[in-house]
Amino acid sequence: MNKETKQSIEKKVDSLLSIMTLEEKIGQMNQYNGFWDVTGPSPKGGNAEKKYEDIKKGLVGSMLTVRGVDQVRSVQKIAVEETRLGIPLIIGFDVIHGYKTLSPIPLAEAASWDLEAIKESAGVAASEAAASGINWTFGPNVDISRDPRWGRVMEGAGEDPYLGSKIATARVKGFQGDDLSDVNTIAACAKHFAGYGFSESGKEYNTVSIDRSTLYNVVLPPFKAAVEADVKTLMNSFNELDGIPATGNKFLQRDILKDKWNFNGFVISDWASIKEMISWGHAEDLNHAAELAVEAGCDMDMESYAYVDELVKLVKEGKVDEKLIDDAARRILTVKYELGLFDDPYKYCNEELEKTVIGSDANRAAVLDMAKKSIVLLKNEGNLLPLPKKGKKIAVIGALADDNNSILGSWRIASDDNSGVSILEGLQQYKGNKLVYKKGADVTVGQTAFTEELTINTTNTEDFDDAIAAAKKSDVVVMVLGEHGFQTGEARSRTELGLPGVQQELLEAVYAVNKNIVLVLTNGRPLTINWAEANIPAIVETWQLGTETGNAVAQVLYGDYNPSGKLPMTFPRNVGQIPIYYNHKQTGRPVNSDNNVFWSHYSDVENTPLYPFGFGLSYASFEYTNLQVSKSNISSEDTVEVSVNLTNTGKVAGKEVVQLYIRDLVASVTRPIKELKGFEMVSLEPGETKKVTLKLTKDELGFYNNDGEFIVEPGTFKIFIGGSSITSLETEITLN
Ligand code: NOJ
Repeated sequence: MNKETKQSIEKKVDSLLSIMTLEEKIGQMNQYNGFWDVTGPSPKGGNAEKKYEDIKKGLVGSMLTVRGVDQVRSVQKIAVEETRLGIPLIIGFDVIHGYKTLSPIPLAEAASWDLEAIKESAGVAASEAAASGINWTFGPNVDISRDPRWGRVMEGAGEDPYLGSKIATARVKGFQGDDLSDVNTIAACAKHFAGYGFSESGKEYNTVSIDRSTLYNVVLPPFKAAVEADVKTLMNSFNELDGIPATGNKFLQRDILKDKWNFNGFVISDWASIKEMISWGHAEDLNHAAELAVEAGCDMDMESYAYVDELVKLVKEGKVDEKLIDDAARRILTVKYELGLFDDPYKYCNEELEKTVIGSDANRAAVLDMAKKSIVLLKNEGNLLPLPKKGKKIAVIGALADDNNSILGSWRIASDDNSGVSILEGLQQYKGNKLVYKKGADVTVGQTAFTEELTINTTNTEDFDDAIAAAKKSDVVVMVLGEHGFQTGEARSRTELGLPGVQQELLEAVYAVNKNIVLVLTNGRPLTINWAEANIPAIVETWQLGTETGNAVAQVLYGDYNPSGKLPMTFPRNVGQIPIYYNHKQTGRPVNSDNNVFWSHYSDVENTPLYPFGFGLSYASFEYTNLQVSKSNISSEDTVEVSVNLTNTGKVAGKEVVQLYIRDLVASVTRPIKELKGFEMVSLEPGETKKVTLKLTKDELGFYNNDGEFIVEPGTFKIFIGGSSITSLETEITLN
């Protein structure tokens, strides 16, 4: 947006504010959920009547979960035509990995390390949501997490702040496009600010206890990147930080976000998180909660009824300065202007676009492309993959193979149930082999839903024999095992991370009769699959890939697409190792130098993970040679070029993500043993060599001290390059 437009918007907002009553300004700060009959005349359910009346009085600035041109138009009509000032609503929705046409879950997309593809995928999601009347998504989720017990890791970009920041930028740009007022772009929302990914013991909604160094260097960078990418909104989080709920946390929302980072957009609470400050034992009642939240910088209230019911009183009693209300309303109105809602409140309500954009062939092609890029090949002993295209008997086993729903993943409120291409359907497109499908065992029992607890099948093995018999008669067995799509997402914490239910037993029973197994994992978080890694020759991580899952998986299994994904999160050997992450500290006793027990380790499992961060194979193979730095003695103003030769030593063309890590050997605040600081995707024909050059500047060599200041300290840095966080080459540079 050019400066002139910005200034003219400022003027328009100021003049609007000057004629607004206190109640109307506070109304802009109020958001209601819309699971009710908005078309009236007698809205049903929950607080529907109150919501309806409040919209008419101009006491609502935003609705969430209203969707579809029809619904949005009817609710917008009330705001525009029946209120004194006719201020349009901003319509929010959880567009997390697609709207109707679904991309892979965000964690899977992160495994692509393909920033352009991730940006495009967010663009597709934005275009479908916008065509459905929506103009604001509650995404991207930029929570860094080191704990796969936490179900919401499926929504984020994994464990690394560098990769997480790049992906945050790509997603914000994808949703918001170049011009927010375009009809196919929507406002983004970086969430959850901040620390939610560190929920203690991986338990949902739990307290968070992290040190300042982790906050500044790990948790905050992706938010900062989102702000720098001009994200229009942020959502605060359900957790507390330093004993203060994030929603009422002034240090986070005012000191860091609005003062230090100069964030000009607005902050929305999470669902009822203002009210939840009462349960936390931080606010006495809703009135107190409203006061704490607005003082702390939370501009909009999602479903707490705190602002709409309490703020007027608080201002009139002189407990809250009206300037804070003006500031919040100004921020919200500015985004509405930027979206173009004042020019045309119905600009996102176009039936024609709704019909043509949603589910279009182009969108399906885009999510298929993203899905293929997200797949990670974890093991391929004896080149069992890719599968031959004809003449083989193949048994496909596992209930998740024949499932059109689970593979859509969680957080897909607007999509149709069972609308994904199942893995079995994908494999059936290849007609040259004889395919037999056997369920083997159900993963879940009964109904599955986003909002309800799942029941896992832990006892019923009656279909095992059928599957075993089919496996015996087959050349290859493709076993599709993992988590149900609703086992991850919000409120889906787990304490055990093996294959749920009887699936491990099924895997071992089939293995006993046929060892030629390709294990296709479908899941939303890292799993502990030690037995499989030790015994199964081929393992493919396919996550939950959305609408086009089956086609993507089949193309990879049959070699029509060569996988290039790399894990964005460490896979532990067991739950006891969690939190386990590649960029950990060295500790004072990192190795067993004295041959006794007094070093940093477990006595029952090794320190290494099952699969490290950044790991992923290809049908090609790659060799790294000739690591060089352009300068080994540098000043903080220098740019160092780090180069390496990459050769495809395999028989097929392939892509490799070249990863650059550093280690700051001595620092005033201890630094991790490795930190990702650059990467590049390289495509190579068989036998081809390319020189890859990545750059390091003070931005990569510095870090945040415990006061949150970015500093660059002199000293020696190790430089590592390779195809995963277990790198193959290293050198050193010295910063003077
Ligand atoms: C609660 C979740 O934490 C948040 O991420 C989501 O955007 C809101 N609910 C609205 O659905």
